[in-house]
Amino acid sequence: MLLVCVTSKKKGLLFGVSRALLFLMSIKVTTLQSIQEAAEIIKNGGLVGMPTETVYGLAADAYNGKAVAKIFEAKGRPAFNPLIVHCHNIEQVETIAQMGKEARSLAEYFWPGPLTMVLPRREESGLSDLVSAGLPTLAVRIPSHKTALTLIKAAGVPLAAPSANKSGSLSTTTPAHVAESLGRAVDVILADGACKVGLESTVIDLSGDAPAVLRPGGITAEEISAALGQPVSYDLGESGEIKSPGQLLKHYAPGIPVRLHAVDLEEGEALLGFGSIKFMGVKDTGRGGGAAKDLPEGMVRNLSESSDLYEAASNLFAMMRALDKPEHKGIAVMAIPGEGVGVAINDRLKRAAQS
Ligand code: TXA
Ligand code: MG
Repeated sequence: MLLVCVTSKKKGLLFGVSRALLFLMSIKVTTLQSIQEAAEIIKNGGLVGMPTETVYGLAADAYNGKAVAKIFEAKGRPAFNPLIVHCHNIEQVETIAQMGKEARSLAEYFWPGPLTMVLPRREESGLSDLVSAGLPTLAVRIPSHKTALTLIKAAGVPLAAPSANKSGSLSTTTPAHVAESLGRAVDVILADGACKVGLESTVIDLSGDAPAVLRPGGITAEEISAALGQPVSYDLGESGEIKSPGQLLKHYAPGIPVRLHAVDLEEGEALLGFGSIKFMGVKDTGRGGGAAKDLPEGMVRNLSESSDLYEAASNLFAMMRALDKPEHKGIAVMAIPGEGVGVAINDRLKRAAQS
C-alpha cells in the first residue's frame, strides 16, 4: 500500500516535471535567431505563439489551409468564427483586402496598432477560405509590436492569428499563459514579456453602409469617430443582429462564476477590485464576515488602485486568471465606469459572467 502511494506520488511528480519541461521547451526568448526559426516553422505549416501589443496570438501562414485548420483544432474554435490576418505593412494588406478611403484614413491614424478593420476580401487574394470562414469580408490589422512585425516579414506571408487561448477561455497576455492554455498544440512561443494593452484589438466593420465597432478595445468609437470626422457607433450584437460571429459566443470565461457590480463579498468569493477597496466588506454568514482588504493575498487583486482604465485593461486577463482557482466560490468584480476603454473592459466582463 505504502509502495503504491510512493509510486503514484513519484509518478505525479514526474508528470509535473515533464509538463513543466514541455512548457519550457516550447517557450523561446525572442532574439533575431528565434524569430527566424519561428518564421521557418510558419513556412513549414506550423503554429507559433506570437506576442503582440494586445494579447498573444496563435499564428500560422494565412495561405496554408492545413496550417489554418490546425489553429481551429488547437483552440477548439468553431469553424464559423473567422480569424484576423496580420500584416507588416499596408502594401501587404492591399494584396488581400480592398482598402477604401475610410480604411486608408484609419490606417494612417491607428496602424501599426490595436485596430482591426473588416474589409472586402480580394477574391484573388489566394488566402485559405477557412481564414474568413467563407465570408466575403476579411479582418486585418498591422500590430504595433516589433517581434510580431519582424516575424510577419521574415515569414514572407500574412499571418492568421486569433488570440492564443482555448476557444471561450481567457485570452493570454504572457508566454506562460499561452503554454498553459495550448500546451503541445503550439510549436514554439516567442516570449516577449507581458502584453501592453492587455485586451484584444478594437474591431471596426468598414464593409457596410456605415462604419461600426463590432468589438470594443483599446481604441474607442469616439477616437475612431474623431479620426474619420463622422459618427461611429457600437454594434455589439445586442439588438440580436449578429455582425461578427465572435459576438455569438460566451467568451473570456474563467472556470468559476463571475459576479459583476459587487459592492460586498460573499464568504469564499475572491475579489477583483477597481479603485479603493477600503470599504469593501465580506458578508457575515456565520463565520464573522470582515473586510475584503484583510483577505489572504491570493483572494484579492486590484485592476487599478488609482482607477486608471488603461492600467485596468492591461491587468484584466492576468488577474482573472490568478483568481480563477477551484477553491474560490467565484470572482466578485467591482463596478468599472463604462466610458472610454471601460466599454471594452465591461464587454469582456459581461461575457465572462454569462452562464
Ligand atoms: O488583438 C487581437 O485582435 C488579437 C491579436 C492576436 O491580434 N486577435 C484576436 O483574434 O483577438 P480572435 O480570433 O480572438 O478574435 C477575432 C474577432 C472574432 O470576434 C471574430 O468573430 C471577428 O474578429 N472577425 C474576424 N473576421 C471577421 C469578419 N470577416 N467579419 C466580422 N468579424 C470578424
Ligand atoms: Mg479570441
